[in-house]
Amino acid sequence: MAQLLITGGAGFIGSHTCLVLLEAGHDLVVLDDFSNSSPESLKRVRQLANLEGSSPRLQVVEGDIRSKSDLRKGFRAGKGIDAVIHFAGLKAVGESVREPLRYWDVNVAGSQSLLSVMQEENCRTLAFSSSATLYGLPERVPVTEADPVQPINPYGFTKAAVEQMLEDLSSSEQGWRIARLRYFNPVGAHPSGQIGEDPNGIPNNLFPFVSQVAVGRRQELKVFGNDWPTPDGTGVRDYIHVMDLAEGHLAAIQHLMEQRPQLLTVNLGSGQGHSVLEVVQAFEKASSRPVAYQLVERRPGDAATTVADPSLANRLLGWQTKRSLAEICRDGWSWQSQNPEGYRGS
Ligand code: NAD
Ligand code: WQD
Repeated sequence: MAQLLITGGAGFIGSHTCLVLLEAGHDLVVLDDFSNSSPESLKRVRQLANLEGSSPRLQVVEGDIRSKSDLRKGFRAGKGIDAVIHFAGLKAVGESVREPLRYWDVNVAGSQSLLSVMQEENCRTLAFSSSATLYGLPERVPVTEADPVQPINPYGFTKAAVEQMLEDLSSSEQGWRIARLRYFNPVGAHPSGQIGEDPNGIPNNLFPFVSQVAVGRRQELKVFGNDWPTPDGTGVRDYIHVMDLAEGHLAAIQHLMEQRPQLLTVNLGSGQGHSVLEVVQAFEKASSRPVAYQLVERRPGDAATTVADPSLANRLLGWQTKRSLAEICRDGWSWQSQNPEGYRGS
């Protein structure tokens, strides 16, 4: 079993991945500055994994990835970090348009500082949270890893820049084992409803918005366009259950540690597309609550359809999604209904 450093481990995807990794027997050090999360998520991860509060299997270092001394604290907290999963970063597209320098600083400079400290510490195994956002407006679907990287917003450019940095690094020096994991639309929650997505303020993304309408926190969803070239006219996306995504990280890190040094680039998606209205209907069914919506103009920068071709991940990692849209909505509702105000309510 390995000891892993998880940057951004208190966040939405990080917390679910921490649980899956602990259950698989790995020991973890989480480095997070809690700028978009709460320590409560990790407390709940401990409970779900049946760990004592003081268990050395999950250590938490409060720190910023842009600070090398914070990163060194993370490395020193363990017995010897074997690999890193790098979730920490900023992820809101609209905010990245308004504050591009902050996005380049945290996402790109932060990743560069992490990679320098990994070099110093002689740790060369890394899984990086990349995003389907770097495909921009895909020319064809399903999208394969060979399709062009052509981001259309600053957030996407920062992900593309880090992917390039990783490629340059792995060609400059032997021994790096790197996975660039391109997530599609991560949604849902752990089936216990104890951990889930807890956005700050008004959600930008469809799924948390729909959940908050169902629970009564928001009045109605605005559906961005019903004139897209899709079966019902609303946008189609590849929604992936966050537990499937967490299991994808376990598969990727195990692959990296077992195989020869390599640079992997894989889509993590389900291969299935669902429209906005299908998500609304599935959520209404799972929650037995109405989700009021209004049809409005298209949102600038949106694509009609984005769906992954996940066959490479299946071939290389032996991984594929197992959970349906109905399960995504069931688990998302379990989290939202038990934690209507997210972690703030606890
Ligand atoms: P999140 O905001 O819930 O988690 C990110 C975590 O990083 C948070 O706990 C935050 O406090 C921490 N963090 C932010 N800046 C930091 C810094 N400077 N130093 C240390 N910690 C810092 O987001 P998430 O949805 O869990 O996403 C995780 C990663 O996956 C991000 O890199 C994101 O860009 C990427 N991603 C997310 C999605 C999505 O839709 N959720 C899709 C594709 C890719
Ligand atoms: C999904 C569909 C909207 C909100 C974003 C980022 C991407 C990645 C995942 C990080 C679209 C429609 C949405 C609403 C709506 N994140 N919608 N009303 O745009 O596919 O991807 O999150 O890497 O980078 O761009 O996800 O959830 O915002 O939208 O009608 O209030 O729902 O138009 O068709 P998207 P989303």
